[in-house]
Amino acid sequence: MTEHVPRRTAEPRRLRRTVVLALTGALAAAGLAVSAGAAQAADSLGSAATAKGRYFGTAVASGHLGETDYAATLDREFNAVTPENEMKWDATESSRGNFTFGAADQIVSHAKAKGMKVRGHTLVWYSQLPGWVGGLGASDLQNAMDNHITQVMQHYKGQIYAWDVVNEAFQDGGSGARRSSPFQDKLGDGYIEHAFRTAHSVDPAAKLCYNDYNTDGVNAKSNAVYAMVKDFKQRGVPIDCVGFQSHFNSQSPVPGDYQANLQRFADLGVDVQITELDIEGSGSAQATNYGNVVKACLAVSRCTGMTVWGVTDKYSWRSSGTPLLFDGNYGKKPAYDAVLAALGGSSSGGGTDPGDGGGSTKSCTATYTETQRWGDRFNGQVTIRAGSSALSGWKVPVTVHSPQKVSTTWSGNPSWDAGGNVMTMASTGGLAAGATTSFGFTVMANGTWTAPAVGACTAS
Ligand code: G3I
Repeated sequence: MTEHVPRRTAEPRRLRRTVVLALTGALAAAGLAVSAGAAQAADSLGSAATAKGRYFGTAVASGHLGETDYAATLDREFNAVTPENEMKWDATESSRGNFTFGAADQIVSHAKAKGMKVRGHTLVWYSQLPGWVGGLGASDLQNAMDNHITQVMQHYKGQIYAWDVVNEAFQDGGSGARRSSPFQDKLGDGYIEHAFRTAHSVDPAAKLCYNDYNTDGVNAKSNAVYAMVKDFKQRGVPIDCVGFQSHFNSQSPVPGDYQANLQRFADLGVDVQITELDIEGSGSAQATNYGNVVKACLAVSRCTGMTVWGVTDKYSWRSSGTPLLFDGNYGKKPAYDAVLAALGGSSSGGGTDPGDGGGSTKSCTATYTETQRWGDRFNGQVTIRAGSSALSGWKVPVTVHSPQKVSTTWSGNPSWDAGGNVMTMASTGGLAAGATTSFGFTVMANGTWTAPAVGACTAS
């Protein structure tokens, strides 16, 4: 994943800039008005989104901020951040009344130093909830929820653009019912309204959002959220925005009525935001989907911004689905170009994916399947698919879970980390555009049958 592949030379870019500057100077000397904005389209996601009155953000993990390419890509391209895990209840109040903000503070101070907006994620959620919360009785739980909202929001008061006050409170499927959680089960339906009212009393300037997934099109779940937001607006419950997570893949594609759904919520008098966008896939299909999502947001005047759920495929929660805009080497993918184009920007070429001389972008995906199992071991197979350009090589990291051990491999060149748990499999040759190949390995289970973690495929 750290392999360095040749980048397009910076010289043509420098030359272009020199020509633009010389021309600008000549025009100015001739007394003609020169507008930088008119002469040059925005060349980053953040600046292009700003030109459209929106922000363009990413989820950030504090642990990666020290990685030079990670921070450089974040700072160059994005103007909003959402801490991926650091503001969640298990991170901020893992034991009752003891608040820890170190990791989240790191992200917030980075964002502040760079003038980025911060989305707070998230105050009340059934997941990543420490065990002690579930053990409380109703009135104690109410106090704990109020205190959690209050302490966390106080700590960041004035620094957060929008808070996901309540996250994922509705069930999937056709019921439209609330999801079971300690809050729902012990406090009843009213807990959501209560959480918004508490949040408003702590930081009235922050936008207060309800955030969920599988609500991106018109369906039973989004209808249930819609009914709640409508009721809140009618009764003056302080809700300002609805977040649409927008995690898409082949089982959950971008819905045809995505824009219409955003619009119907906006028509209730709330802002809408795309909060956790990622779209599995590669090449032009992924690019088209990304472009369509951005266009949908831009077509809805109250869609105030978009956030992708991570900077690079290699750190995505769905890494093997390569769902983000930058590959594992921080190269710009076709999806990046499609987003920038949809935002009305145009690429300056900096950080562009390693080219192949033909101006196209190399990419690949890796998919794992277990093919056989015995009493003591199993065989795994990883299928590599090249994107729309031919590859001269690829690499895929595979991590097994100790005490598992890989005993045999085939159809690849493996190398190992010091601990022997991370195998990086490299190709033995090239791969034609769109073609697939696979490698395999045997894992001695030693009592642990968890599937290995297969990281993002890196193309060269
Ligand atoms: O930090 C620990 C590490 O110390 C430990 O060794 C390792 C062992 O599993 O776990 C690490 O924590 C993981 C954490 O991500 C940080 O990487 C957790 O196990 C893992 O569960 C956690 O996953 C997060 C997931 O929420 C949890 O539900 C993902 O990073 C995060 O992207 C994801 O984000 C959610 C949004 O908050 C809400 N919407 C859905 C979205 C995707 O699931």
